[in-house]
Amino acid sequence: MIKIAPSILSADFSRLGEEIRAVEQAGADYIHVDVMDGHFVPNLTIGPLVVEAIGRVATQPLDVHLMISPVDVYIPAFVKAGATILTVHAEATLHLDRTLNQIRESGCKVGLALNPATPLCQLASVLHLLDMVVLMSVNPGFGGQSFIPHALNRIQTVRRMITDRGLNIELEVDGGIKPDNIHAAAQAGANVFVAGSAVFTQPDYAAVIQALRANASA
Ligand code: DX5
Ligand code: ZN
Repeated sequence: MIKIAPSILSADFSRLGEEIRAVEQAGADYIHVDVMDGHFVPNLTIGPLVVEAIGRVATQPLDVHLMISPVDVYIPAFVKAGATILTVHAEATLHLDRTLNQIRESGCKVGLALNPATPLCQLASVLHLLDMVVLMSVNPGFGGQSFIPHALNRIQTVRRMITDRGLNIELEVDGGIKPDNIHAAAQAGANVFVAGSAVFTQPDYAAVIQALRANASA
């Protein structure tokens, strides 16, 4: 099932509540919330307080992407803030199995994100713990970057890993997704598509979300 997850990083933060309502009315399946700490990535965005405020407005699941390190210490706060899916980076923790189990035991769905150059073999020992794999198709930290074509091979490999093990795991691609490249990402095996600048730079959110969904399903 194709899911479109607008990333609020590219939204108008002076009207965040309105923007969230607008993308949900426009057909967003998830609200993708990029949390950045200025340490794991060279940018600083929001924390649990704002995620909680987003949760008071959003009716769709909150797909919270933690680009922070250390990460374990902050998991309870994001769970309490209302994250539906909590995604951590494999590169952000020394004890990945412990971190993923901490999220699992908290009752949140478990996401694991891999940066574009992180070996996919890291997934092998933890795939059974996951509800979602997030493959970065940009180097994390900013919206509006260009899609890294090499991500397509990685999507294909991970989709095969998931299928071979008969697991029911979502495969999200995050970064640089546009109407003209989403078809290739879907063909490669992704089923959840983060779209920040592709959506929030457009006057008509419904039209672009419809185009993304149509091109992904074509
Ligand atoms: C980048 C973030 C992405 C980004 C996507 O570090 O994780 O979610 O906001 O924005 P676009 O779709 O504009 O690349
Ligand atoms: Zn993200």
